[in-house]
Amino acid sequence: LAPPGAPVLVESPTYPGMLAIARAAGLRPVPVPVDRDGVRPELLAQAFRASGARLFVCQPLFQNPTGAVLSADRRPDVLRIAREAGAFVVEDDFVRRLVHADAGPLPRPLATDDPDGVVVHVCSLTKATSPSLRIGCLAARGPVLERLRAIQVVDHLFVPRPLQEAALELVGSPAWPRHLRTVAGELRDRRDALAGALALRLPELAVPHVPVGGYHLWVRLPDGTDERRFVASALREGVALAPGRPYFPAEPPAPYVRLSFV
Ligand SMILES: Cc1ncc(COP(=O)(O)O)c(C=O)c1O
Repeated sequence: LAPPGAPVLVESPTYPGMLAIARAAGLRPVPVPVDRDGVRPELLAQAFRASGARLFVCQPLFQNPTGAVLSADRRPDVLRIAREAGAFVVEDDFVRRLVHADAGPLPRPLATDDPDGVVVHVCSLTKATSPSLRIGCLAARGPVLERLRAIQVVDHLFVPRPLQEAALELVGSPAWPRHLRTVAGELRDRRDALAGALALRLPELAVPHVPVGGYHLWVRLPDGTDERRFVASALREGVALAPGRPYFPAEPPAPYVRLSFV
């Protein structure tokens, strides 16, 4: 959807894997800040104007790493801004099946609000099953679907048939909804245990948002903290956490860490 050398708008912070993929494809990630209601529409419009980008990669639901959910009033703005820029939105709906038991109804994929073929929706089974079950799903409509279909013909040669059969059997079995319910309850309990322990033992750390989906907390460290030393000393104590810096396409505004509870 974007030729080598082209800019691609990405949320900031975002999943480092996305930044790596963009850079490996020769694209230039351009950051657009996210707050607890998701990407900020006025900054998105500005970034499209300034960069001339024709692609925006967005995680509207339980964004990695912030856990933000794109708010109902911003959803139409994002679609309108992309449409006006003549751009596509890749909706990375990576964690919809890791919703917590206390979440309530989820917003539908952004793609369901898009009659024009602006949004390309992607999701996968890995997060709710196993990292080795590398089965993903892409939904698009209109001309973009035709472009992607041409590429997919090649890609599909490499998805092993037994893996596809196993995935189909799994999601079609009565055990699948039971599994998702178990995961949802477990995630809620682990999230509460982690958030509770942080509040009790490390009250100086700020947790801007405790999400009801996904598997991590995004934690702001006090200003001036050396993020790398913090992460290294945690590791020495047997606690694995991710430094915040790789989640930022450009200079981070503050030190952060991402704590996983799976
Ligand atoms: C935001 C986001 N998108 C995509 C992925 C990749 O998902 P998969 O394991 O299905 O390749 C991840 C993995 O952590 C992620 O955090």
